[in-house]
Amino acid sequence: MTRERTQVGIVGAGPAGLLLSHLLALAGIDSVVVESRSRAYCEARQRAGLLEEGTVRLLRAAGLAGRLDREGLEHGGIYLQFSGERHHLDFRDLVGRAVTIYAQTEIVKDLIAERTSAGAALHFDVSGTEVADLGTDRPLLRYTDASGNRHEVGCDVIAGCDGFHGICRPAMPDGLLTVAERAYPYAWLGILADVPPSTDELIYCRHPNGFALHSMRSPEVSRLYLQVPPDEDIEDWPDDRIWAELRHRLEVPGWELEEGPILEKSVTPMRSFVAAPMRSGRLFLAGDAAHIVPPTGAKGLNLALADVSVLAAALIALVRDSRSELADAYSETCQNRVWRATHFSWWMTSMLHVTPGGDEMPDRNEMEAQLQLSQLRYVTTSRAAATTLAENYCGYPPLC
Ligand code: FAD
Ligand code: DHB
Repeated sequence: MTRERTQVGIVGAGPAGLLLSHLLALAGIDSVVVESRSRAYCEARQRAGLLEEGTVRLLRAAGLAGRLDREGLEHGGIYLQFSGERHHLDFRDLVGRAVTIYAQTEIVKDLIAERTSAGAALHFDVSGTEVADLGTDRPLLRYTDASGNRHEVGCDVIAGCDGFHGICRPAMPDGLLTVAERAYPYAWLGILADVPPSTDELIYCRHPNGFALHSMRSPEVSRLYLQVPPDEDIEDWPDDRIWAELRHRLEVPGWELEEGPILEKSVTPMRSFVAAPMRSGRLFLAGDAAHIVPPTGAKGLNLALADVSVLAAALIALVRDSRSELADAYSETCQNRVWRATHFSWWMTSMLHVTPGGDEMPDRNEMEAQLQLSQLRYVTTSRAAATTLAENYCGYPPLC
């Protein structure tokens, strides 16, 4: 076993772990990042695509926005569609803010390129990750590298940025965590398609057959989603069926959905999950390791990066200046934003998705449908309601 030393041990090279490593490096703090997947896998994994203005500012302030500023697509609003009508919500007019389309894959590529060129300790393809001695001042991070060598890294602090299925949250002391959780009776089938988007801004659509979303990755590549049952087999969705269903749900008079080759397709389950506190002694959790939201509000990635901006400041004060106030406040500071995003994501999800099970309770579905349509009419006719949606969608509280 090789014994090493670092200031911050980071588990996970997703957006949270990579950004944390970079922000710490800017303050002269060294870290070791371990990641169980390969670099190629991390750079190709299709996930989120929409950044709040505060997230863009955070990346810009960290010197990471060169390509984002060139290639990101700034959107001043979204479309909400229901009952065959498409309504525009103008965020610039409502709250003076905008959002940016720039894929999580691209953020991860930018961060890995930066970390690699800075000579950071960033280890892919590791196995057997363990964290130990968490109640002491010298927690340990152990892993086996890609060549089969076992390492033990003595750290001042460990950051669990290892996503929902990671090892750090389960390593918290028994009985410490309070967990709030909700599963939803649907999933999203997402596709990446080699065709220019058929819209200038995102379309969120409620349809009696279920939710649909038209997003994009670039002026050449579209990203689209369909609500499907939670246990849906992707094999049941040949490309023709996907396009036919997207055309049907997104249809409005005088508008056409352009089709093209499907490059990738997958089914994502949906859940809300919040664990607190996000810290135990010298172990801190950030991003999906501590909380998950359903994707309808486009919050998961933004929340993960917001956690990290708070955590980086707290760890810099703790490790460099031996000041613990920010570390002590970390969990509560993050939870305020996390619960706002959890509520907003649940609200958007509930307003736009169709609950299955109408056969057993037909009146429930009629009630649900009318409540959803009433809410959708409200946010598309009342400036106060539209402002609430816009303020949350653009990020609340604003990050910077
Ligand atoms: P992750 O990106 O999950 O990174 C965690 C990393 O830790 C991973 O690379 C993992 O391999 C690594 N890891 C785990 N265990 C270990 C271990 N034991 N040792 C070493 N490394 C480990 N959000 C949206 O806003 N919109 C979307 O459309 C959207 N789609 C999504 C689709 C899917 C399939 C998923 C899973 C999430 C999606 N999200 C979406 C959420 C968003 O992508 C996440 O919120 C974001 O990735 C969180 O970043 P993170 O760094 O906290 O976690
Ligand atoms: C995307 C995903 C979302 O969940 C969302 O609300 C908006 C955009 C996307 O992948 O582009």
